Amino acid sequence: MMPPVAIKSDSLNAGQANALATSLDLRLLEDHQMPAGPFLLEFKGDRLMLHMTGSPRFRPWIVDLRKHRRSKGRDPLLRAMGPGAGHVVDATAGWCVDAVHLAVSGFRVTAVEQDRVVAAMLKHALDQPVNRELVDRMELVHGDSTRVIPGIRPRADVIYLDPMYPGHPKSPAPRKGMRILRALVGPGQDTRDLFDQAMRHAKKRVVVKRPHHADPIASGKVGETRGKLVRFDIYKPH
Ligand SMILES: C[S@@+](CC[C@H](N)C(=O)[O-])C[C@H]1O[C@@H](n2cnc3c(N)ncnc32)[C@H](O)[C@@H]1O
Repeated sequence: MMPPVAIKSDSLNAGQANALATSLDLRLLEDHQMPAGPFLLEFKGDRLMLHMTGSPRFRPWIVDLRKHRRSKGRDPLLRAMGPGAGHVVDATAGWCVDAVHLAVSGFRVTAVEQDRVVAAMLKHALDQPVNRELVDRMELVHGDSTRVIPGIRPRADVIYLDPMYPGHPKSPAPRKGMRILRALVGPGQDTRDLFDQAMRHAKKRVVVKRPHHADPIASGKVGETRGKLVRFDIYKPH
């Protein structure tokens, strides 16, 4: 069950807000109206912000893709992609931290996100002029990857999965972005279908991000790369 989300806007963005409210079936609020549900999307100038209405100390969340660039070094995510990987499908895009890192590191990335609010915020961020260079390397698809993956042609070299993980008593508190994702999409999901589709359709590899303490999502991995908090399990597709 999706949590209720309302939307409001300044006068500059009324048209965009209207269109988004219609396409995502969100309640469009007048200035004086208060949202009834836990989330409010707000257009203000060139920003699209997400408020968590029940948490007064929560500062509005904005997707800033420029923050996702990281230094490459001996990066375990990049190493997990393997040699000769040109096109990666990030089938669990989230806030696109990993997708942007892959894109600015030279991969062509198709990022697929199922949640309508997350996907709308990503699209808004990608449409900003400051991210124009990213658009050449990164395509965003709103949809369920189990359905999107079979239609991607030519098939991607690597399909990358970073499914939600419910957490572990010893895990450090999740970062803000992850806390919001958990509130929007829930703590964890059944990944069997997603993994099966990835194994059926990737050309060279399927890579799955896991916390160190978590079991692999499937048997048969052929390798892994390790970072400080997470590892990337590598599978050879069928
Ligand atoms: C742990 S987050 C991914 C974080 C991401 N790697 C990043 O760098 O921001 C998992 C995301 O995958 C999305 N997701 C899970 N299953 C999906 C599916 N079948 N199709 C598309 N998106 C999916 C969830 O909605 C959630 O946003």
